[in-house]
Amino acid sequence: MTKRFYVTTPIYYVNDKPHIGHTYTTVLGDVLARHHRMLGEDVYFLTGTDEHGQKIEKTAAKRGITPQELVDEVAPNFQNLWKEMGLTPDHFVRTTHARHKATVQERFTQLLGTGDIYKASYKGLYSVSDEAYVTETQAKELQAQGLAHQLVELEEESYFFRLAAYENWLIQLYEKYPEFVQPEFRLNEVKQFVSPGGERGNLQDLSISRTSITWGIPVPGDEKHVVYVWFDALLNYLSACKEGHWPPTINLVGKDILRFHAVYWPAFLMAMYRQEGDDLNGELPARIRELLPQTVLAHGWWLMGETKMSKSLGNIVRPKELLHFGTDAARFFLMRDMQIGHDRAFTFESFMDRLNADLANGLGNLASRSISMLQRYRSGIVPIPQKWDDEDRVVAEQGAKLCADYLAKAEANDFNGALDGLWVYLRHLDGYIVKAEPWKLAKDEANKEKLDTVLCQLYRALRATAVLTAPVMPGMAQLLWESLGMTGQVSEQRFADLAFEAPAAAPVNDPKPLFARIDKDAAMTEIEAIKTAEMAPATPAEPSLDVPPMKENIDYDTFAKTDLRVGLILEAEEVPKSKKLIKMKVDLGFEQRTILGGIKEAYAPADLVGRRVVVVANLAPRAMMGIESHGMLLCASDNASKPYLIAPPEDAKPGFVVR
Ligand code: MSP
Repeated sequence: MTKRFYVTTPIYYVNDKPHIGHTYTTVLGDVLARHHRMLGEDVYFLTGTDEHGQKIEKTAAKRGITPQELVDEVAPNFQNLWKEMGLTPDHFVRTTHARHKATVQERFTQLLGTGDIYKASYKGLYSVSDEAYVTETQAKELQAQGLAHQLVELEEESYFFRLAAYENWLIQLYEKYPEFVQPEFRLNEVKQFVSPGGERGNLQDLSISRTSITWGIPVPGDEKHVVYVWFDALLNYLSACKEGHWPPTINLVGKDILRFHAVYWPAFLMAMYRQEGDDLNGELPARIRELLPQTVLAHGWWLMGETKMSKSLGNIVRPKELLHFGTDAARFFLMRDMQIGHDRAFTFESFMDRLNADLANGLGNLASRSISMLQRYRSGIVPIPQKWDDEDRVVAEQGAKLCADYLAKAEANDFNGALDGLWVYLRHLDGYIVKAEPWKLAKDEANKEKLDTVLCQLYRALRATAVLTAPVMPGMAQLLWESLGMTGQVSEQRFADLAFEAPAAAPVNDPKPLFARIDKDAAMTEIEAIKTAEMAPATPAEPSLDVPPMKENIDYDTFAKTDLRVGLILEAEEVPKSKKLIKMKVDLGFEQRTILGGIKEAYAPADLVGRRVVVVANLAPRAMMGIESHGMLLCASDNASKPYLIAPPEDAKPGFVVR
């Protein structure tokens, strides 16, 4: 069976504009998704937006619009940015999607039924910016930082999640399955939070509903409560999961939201998957471990110099500024310079230095030099080596080892280490060229074999580089691939077929410049101009689609079982007492049928008569509201829109087969 790989990013708050932090996580998700596709796995990559909560309600009120209008305006900023960057999520979930809301309500009801959620009264200090109650210690810390204004005292009736009851299972999860949180030192932070110094009994039940706000998912059956925004948000990974892909292989998160993902999230899932007879004070059943995310991977922060990026300091790096250098370059830098788990200082200086050194000089030069030599000395045809001296052998062995090392590091989600190793190898190849001096070898036919070996090795190394780096810099890898005379998409290669020794398929092509050297002073002026333009108010983007993920592929025979026909509506009337249904008489050319359609909200009966429609003609008859309906009309819609009847052209005859 094909291995499945399900990777998620956090869903981003829509009240903020995307910055380098959001970009980093989403690029990492994209790199992982592409990498695992090239491993031949069945990949599902999910990202999206977190749209409920007090902050949205407040921002919308300030602007005099509804929260829904606000989120519809700003959510597409994220979606469009990812498109512009060529990222390939399989689905973009929004917490205002109908399917998500239904899942949250179903799960809330389920846990209410099992007693994992209960109702009680709660009084405490609440941090508006964190959307969470704070402990006394946390309150003191905030006061000491001059942030007391963020705290309000709230007393409310609230639903609680029985978090304390899951302490035992959570601790076992961390002890027995340490891969659950990576990197390891982050796991220690989580353990410290749950049981400081190994002590038990610290976890408190979690308030999981709010009455102080209205912008959220209503608690089913008690609508003055809305579901706490983190219960709502975390469930996106479940509500938008593709069939057959549960559980997440990797939940990517920043270190600041690790606690929600490594404590609350598994506890919610344990409660959902727990069965009669499971003992919360006994062993965590292996069955339940298998239904939890395999790994929550927590990365550190991009800092501006030594400090945090913040709007008030005006030191935020925006994606447009990075994209100015090309998406591949931005992706390469983010993956190359961030060691997962740690913080990293960002400066434009180091960004540009990295690109000049590694892409313009390093890989760019090596590729153009090697390909030009192949053209000049061997008319572009890659020679097969006949003889190997010690140096050649070292290069060949290092090459094979490099591929294995790169893949092993990537498997451990360490792209920083993988790329570092690759570039060490590329630098070694530069040394190999300098030492072999191909330009001298070419002058004497007696050196033909040595020159053949050198040229072939360079070619093979570059081809392996194109394949290995395709997930990180898809565009540049494809350019290199084509320069090497290869056809098709490099992204369609499989790492398993990465034979370092494989012969060349075709003569190389003229080398295409991979990356132009950056003039740093000129670039900084351009960056300043982008920053100024970004200060200008943004224009609202197109509202995005609210659709479920794609269904599984089916074969043609399965599809062909459906008999679709053109129909003509002859009569239409409302079904009494039904909110949705309209009863129609439809002419199918060979017979007339009674068909019921749930389209009352979108069409008046009088507007339907005379319309051509597409009918699922071989759907088994079914009675609704005491009327038998034989067939179904096809409509198009997303979860938020009204249904639109699919309309064949006027000259299509009733009875025509739709195929
Ligand atoms: N909506 C929640 C997540 C819910 S997931 C079920 C949220 N959203 S956020 O938009 O505020 O933050 C999203 C991510 O951006 C977090 O993982 C956070 O760590 C990350 N970053 C915010 N600033 C960052 C940097 N400066 N550097 C790297 N990532 C940082 O939290």
